[in-house]
Amino acid sequence: MERSESGTRDDRTVHAAIDQSVEERDQSFMGVALAEGRRGLARTSPNPAVGAVLVRDGRIVGRGQTQPPGGPHAEIVALREAGEAARGATLYVTLEPCAHHGRTPPCVDALVAAGVAEVRVALVDPFPQVAGRGIVRLRAAGILVAVGLGATEASELHEGFFTRLATGRPHVTAKWAMTLDGRIATRTGRARWVTSPSARREVHRLRDRIDGIVVGVGTVLADDPLLTTRLPDEDVGVGGPHHPLRIVLDGAGRTPPDARLLRPDTPGRTVIACTAAAPEACRAAWRAGGAEVLVVAGDGPRVDLRHLLADLGRRGLNTLLVEGGGEILASCFAAGLVDRALVFVAPKLIGGRTAPGPLGGLGAATMNGAYRLRDVVVRHFDDDLLIQGEIDRGGAAADEADGPIAAAPATGAIFHQRTKSTIGREESLSDGRILPSTQGGDHVHRDC
Ligand SMILES: NC(=O)c1ccc[n+]([C@@H]2O[C@H](COP(=O)([O-])OP(=O)(O)OC[C@H]3O[C@@H](n4cnc5c(N)ncnc54)[C@H](OP(=O)(O)O)[C@@H]3O)[C@@H](O)[C@H]2O)c1
Repeated sequence: MERSESGTRDDRTVHAAIDQSVEERDQSFMGVALAEGRRGLARTSPNPAVGAVLVRDGRIVGRGQTQPPGGPHAEIVALREAGEAARGATLYVTLEPCAHHGRTPPCVDALVAAGVAEVRVALVDPFPQVAGRGIVRLRAAGILVAVGLGATEASELHEGFFTRLATGRPHVTAKWAMTLDGRIATRTGRARWVTSPSARREVHRLRDRIDGIVVGVGTVLADDPLLTTRLPDEDVGVGGPHHPLRIVLDGAGRTPPDARLLRPDTPGRTVIACTAAAPEACRAAWRAGGAEVLVVAGDGPRVDLRHLLADLGRRGLNTLLVEGGGEILASCFAAGLVDRALVFVAPKLIGGRTAPGPLGGLGAATMNGAYRLRDVVVRHFDDDLLIQGEIDRGGAAADEADGPIAAAPATGAIFHQRTKSTIGREESLSDGRILPSTQGGDHVHRDC
């Protein structure tokens, strides 16, 4: 038998197999923690929707997700479930445990007191009061800490929180439904319904996980939407359906006081964002209907979107869905405020010169001025497609030159799927490293 410093070849094969199974086991436990976190989305803001799992002797002994503001964090929920079994256990958690006193005491103290032996953290918390200190404190107490397992998935889970910390505004997803010929409504303004029931169900799942929805007054006048979350029981998240904060952009005060989203029996809250141009009588009527009126700086007669989004960020909204219509979507894109686009495409053709498209406004003069999506993912909902992509801020592409056309990808590569799983990649954070504080961090909070 070949023998070396590191043992026989058989030994090495066995160790490699063990390493492989340890890695797979770690991946699957972090996967459970990520799933716990996702169940809390939109229910924890301004705090991140963290998920945690405690494992001892290969068995889950506690799991948890961060509770609504003022409630315990995911780690504490998991510790409470585990009780004495937490001693010697490994914690898998989607974000670094907190080390500061907010509305709740530091999670690191509770982990140390419970005798947890190891902690696998997906991501360091960029929140300035944590920013590596949680990891330093755990290590100082003799707990083994590894960082990076499931980092890509956790970045996605916490993208709203991270965007707000970095920019002071929520993460913004622009969403619309259009026909194959690029229309979001007919020439008479009718948009019910562009897509199939299963695509619309997906929209309600999205609403269940988002902090706020934005629409323009044009959409309120045309569709009189409810903008609530209506889901079958099996799709509903923790604690029942979550109705996002509805935000209507109405510079001049055209929202009818009897709009359905203002009715007392419509669940959830409505904010009408107007400018000083909206008459006081309109504002009084909206308030009487239970809406909050937010008078925002005007961009002419229109609501200044940067001011509005900064205000929503200060209120602790981590995520926003802009649902249209075309004028609002165009303004959000033009202001550089869109992070992601979700486009449902139905196999229908409407036609007509005046039927609106998804982006109103002036539009680009040349192809170089087009907004581009990257990391594109395509999914099917019955016969409808959902095309999702991140807005590429890398600048305009040089599409206009009459050069040779690049070779086409191999047949079958019509849709490409983003592959994201990086669970298993681990890297250590050196002791004492504190991340630089983020831009805008002074006016945002984690209201623990
Ligand atoms: N298929 C879909 O996904 C979908 C989704 C939503 C809507 N729709 C359709 O879209 C149509 C409505 O779209 P729309 O473009 O007419 O109206 P809109 O985008 O819903 O609302 C535009 C209005 O919002 C107000 N506004 C306030 N601040 C603004 C700002 N910063 N930028 C832009 N507008 C601002 C303006 O009215 P003031 O100047 O009076 O303030 C403006 O006229 C309807 O036919 C509806 O059915 C389709």
